[in-house]
Amino acid sequence: MKNLPKYVLGIETSCDETAAAILENGNKIRSSIVASQTELHEEYGGVVPEIACRAHVEAILPVMESACEEANVELEEIDLVGVTHTPGLIGSLLIGLQAAKSLSVALSKPFVGVDHIQAHLHSCALAAHDEDRVDIEDFPFPQVGLVVSGGHTGLYHMNGHGSYEKLGSTIDDAAGEAFDKVASLLNLSYPGGPAIQEAAENGNPEAVDFPRPMIDSPNYNFSFSGLKTAVLYHLGGQDQTNRNPDVPEEKVPDIAASFQESVVDVLITKIQRALSEFDAEGISVGGGVAANKRFRNRLSDLADDEDLPLFIPPISLCTDNAAMIAGRAYYRIQTGSPSPLNMDAIPT
Ligand code: KG4
Ligand code: ZN
Repeated sequence: MKNLPKYVLGIETSCDETAAAILENGNKIRSSIVASQTELHEEYGGVVPEIACRAHVEAILPVMESACEEANVELEEIDLVGVTHTPGLIGSLLIGLQAAKSLSVALSKPFVGVDHIQAHLHSCALAAHDEDRVDIEDFPFPQVGLVVSGGHTGLYHMNGHGSYEKLGSTIDDAAGEAFDKVASLLNLSYPGGPAIQEAAENGNPEAVDFPRPMIDSPNYNFSFSGLKTAVLYHLGGQDQTNRNPDVPEEKVPDIAASFQESVVDVLITKIQRALSEFDAEGISVGGGVAANKRFRNRLSDLADDEDLPLFIPPISLCTDNAAMIAGRAYYRIQTGSPSPLNMDAIPT
């Protein structure tokens, strides 16, 4: 693309949020609309793919319209459409991808498929610019970056915008998934992260000595499914076959705080190890779990100890949003061609 796009429309439908955003000059968030489906999935304690897909169909056009309206930008003024095409739920991804392709044809403007995880990392740079901390073009590299969400937990060495080398990732559940599953065990609401955080505020993080899975393993991988099982066994006592143990209400804060501390300990330790091995001029952390208060405090302490800047977006840019998709698309188009109309959605 010869001229850089002035207005980029971002579209995000990879999981249970239908989102659209307009970005100006790759750095100014003119609008960022998110329609959440939380209420639809709440009674199931997790995202139901068929329900998510149907809800995206209903929400996608109104959400795109709202994004244009709030930005005061006409559809015809959009220069580029950026859309999440991987990873995510296949049915959900296809709704956004189809919307992007249709717009691209109707407006005769290019579209690019964007990797959702890369967009979470990019959200750290976008937020830093938005907060007037550092111009996005001067965002420091290299950095150690962590994406920690409901679907993903991965550590990266970031060498430039979009130049992200994966150091390791979870071998089973993502950290957010563990929060959601443990919240369900504790009869807390969905999504589990905010509910566990709230319960943990009145608990003692040292009350239960839950395991710190893979904390000492000499790599950058994670594992969180055993931690959920450890909580289950703790609740069930001697009876390890009981999948639905009683949860005395007065025990919930201590269990929530101890579980949260275990997850945070592992995440902090792996970041610390990466910092000791790789050059880094900063720490970037994105994804829904980056909204966690305890984690944010521990990250802030770590950054102080290491004397490095910490780039962690506000909560609206930590959880799924389309501003990060538009932002990633702006850089992606500079290093490659527009995506073809037969581009596939890739679930994993
Ligand atoms: O990034 P995100 O919106 O969607 C994915 O790409 O997965 O992350 C959602 C995840 C959920 O698992 C949710 O429980 C978790 O982020 N989460 C939190 C908090 N807020 C959201 N986890 C811990 N503490 C929070 N405050
Ligand atoms: Zn996400």
